[in-house]
Amino acid sequence: MSKPLIVVTGKNGQLGWEIQQLAEAYSEAFEFLFTGRDDLDLSKPETIAPFFKNHQPDYFINCAAYTAVDKAETEQELAFTTNAESVGLIAQQCALVNAKLITISTDYVFDGNGTSPYTIHTATNPVNYYGHSKWMGEQLALNNCSQSIVIRTSWVYSVHGNNFVKTMLRLMNDRPELKVVADQVGSPTYAADLAEAILKIIVSIERGNAHYGVYQYSNTGVISWCDFAGAIGRIAGRETKVLPIASVDYPTPAKRPSYSVMDTSDLVRDYGIELKGWEESLGKCIKLLG
Ligand SMILES: NC(=O)c1ccc[n+]([C@@H]2O[C@H](COP(=O)([O-])OP(=O)(O)OC[C@H]3O[C@@H](n4cnc5c(N)ncnc54)[C@H](OP(=O)(O)O)[C@@H]3O)[C@@H](O)[C@H]2O)c1
Repeated sequence: MSKPLIVVTGKNGQLGWEIQQLAEAYSEAFEFLFTGRDDLDLSKPETIAPFFKNHQPDYFINCAAYTAVDKAETEQELAFTTNAESVGLIAQQCALVNAKLITISTDYVFDGNGTSPYTIHTATNPVNYYGHSKWMGEQLALNNCSQSIVIRTSWVYSVHGNNFVKTMLRLMNDRPELKVVADQVGSPTYAADLAEAILKIIVSIERGNAHYGVYQYSNTGVISWCDFAGAIGRIAGRETKVLPIASVDYPTPAKRPSYSVMDTSDLVRDYGIELKGWEESLGKCIKLLG
């Protein structure tokens, strides 16, 4: 009997790359097809149906996204096509071939005005266009494929790709002092942990335990960007001083939510996913970065 096929988009992004690192460990049970922009370009929605003519996945993990949060303010059409329209078409195709869709969304669907962790029932209200496009993508996935799982995540970093952890380490190489915003708090996510959670969800579905809809995943714990930068320096043994500043002193084209913490308990309840603390996972990543 042939193994279930898992198609993964965004193979060169942080999350897609981390799933690739785990694929070998799951290769007895699953076949994997990792795709990059050259194989399936989400800015060209017309290429999605032909892709599904050539490949009939059992699971489709969509890690590809337009993730340039500030640029999305001026490239709204491209962000919408990539993060929403194409996700809807992927969902339609998944429904046609009876594939399960796992697509990744963001804490930026919330406005940041909360004071306690957002649940999947908390009203969404994105404050920037990237968040809006991802929210549209969520709706289009859920409306077009009943076997869709949307996983919202936040503050993602990995040894691979561009992220806050690597930027801080680079800046700490030659700066005695760094100023980092202290009035935005959230929960970091090590992409390797999320990759493992996604594959565990698929294993669970294969064993007959399937739940669809919106889920949220991050490492546990709440921290500001400033304190996170401080922890990065401390764990990596850097001397750089990290000083707090307010968001108003670090203006960006896209507004960021100030409180970005999500309730992740549904994944624990439905799929038995074990959540890891942000500090432990940050330590692992920094160790790998050497
Ligand atoms: N990074 C975060 O802090 C964060 C926070 C919350 C949610 N998320 C969500 O988590 C998911 C994974 O994010 P990530 O951090 O792994 O993102 P990432 O590192 O920026 O990777 C995104 C990937 O999407 C690909 N991509 C962009 N446009 C594409 C297109 N038109 N067609 C095909 N592929 C395209 C990129 O390809 P190229 O390599 O060719 O550019 C890249 O490989 C995304 O859904 C993102 O929205 C991320």
